[in-house]
Amino acid sequence: MLRESIKVRAPATVANVSCGFDCLGYAISDPADIVTISKNNDPGIEISISGMKADTIPTIAENNTAGKALLSLLEVLNIKQGFKVHIEKGIHPGSGLGSSAASAVAAVFGANVLLGSPLKLEDLLIHCMNGEIVSSGFAHADNVAPALLGGFILVRSYDPLDILKLPIPEKLLSINVLPDYIVNTKEARAILPKDIALTSAIKQLGNLSGFITGLYEKDFALMSRSMVDLFAEPFRSGLIPGYDSMRQSVMDSGAIGCGISGSGPSVFALSDSLNKANIIGKAMVSSFKKSGLESKLFISPVNRLPPKILD
Ligand code: HSE
Repeated sequence: MLRESIKVRAPATVANVSCGFDCLGYAISDPADIVTISKNNDPGIEISISGMKADTIPTIAENNTAGKALLSLLEVLNIKQGFKVHIEKGIHPGSGLGSSAASAVAAVFGANVLLGSPLKLEDLLIHCMNGEIVSSGFAHADNVAPALLGGFILVRSYDPLDILKLPIPEKLLSINVLPDYIVNTKEARAILPKDIALTSAIKQLGNLSGFITGLYEKDFALMSRSMVDLFAEPFRSGLIPGYDSMRQSVMDSGAIGCGISGSGPSVFALSDSLNKANIIGKAMVSSFKKSGLESKLFISPVNRLPPKILD
């Protein structure tokens, strides 16, 4: 007997990880979005939203990342089933913590279960990516892939889609600080240059390869010197008040690396100990405070789990 309704939790994610613009990302434990999705006798997708900055998110399915992702899923399955979707935002939109990705992943994952699981987990990815077009203008996978599949992910290729799961060194912790303001992902992408100098591309290739080797070798020093962003950070750091001095104080506190989470304004750091992670988190929060911004701190290991069915 197929169920009529399901409640799914999908977590926040950190995209780019400094050296892997649009191709590197990992999931964390908190915050998360919770989506309740029920079959509806009427066709179409009815969306309601509560929680963090809910009133800033469109409820028309075509304009909502979860709605768009569901429409993509239904189109491929050639099914007319209607759904009622309630999104409880635990991750505020425009945070740089994969807010749109979490909603899309929870909705698509839940709908697939309600439909009798016609698609495998990996085959849901493309629909979640299609949801991202609404919020960022591009079907990037570096948030949706880790939110859906769990763990640390490399998008080796977009066409054809080739997603690789990377190893996670045991002691690795993520520190995430979310200041109380919104950066629009589309705008944060629009300020990036369309072309990158070959000299910068060479450096970034070396850094991404070095970082991934570091994950495999559990070599935190190699990961640390590889966590440099020449593609996005130089253009986006101005969107985050006090970013340069905050980054310096985080690195001085013993972080493996520190950068802008996704398109910001959240910042992230990696650490190899809880003690250091607490110090790093405090440094980030107090830096935002100096700029007059309240912020929230999350410390967690990389989350290896797929979305969780709550009910
Ligand atoms: N890779 C994307 C970007 C992530 O940096 O624009 C958006 O969260």
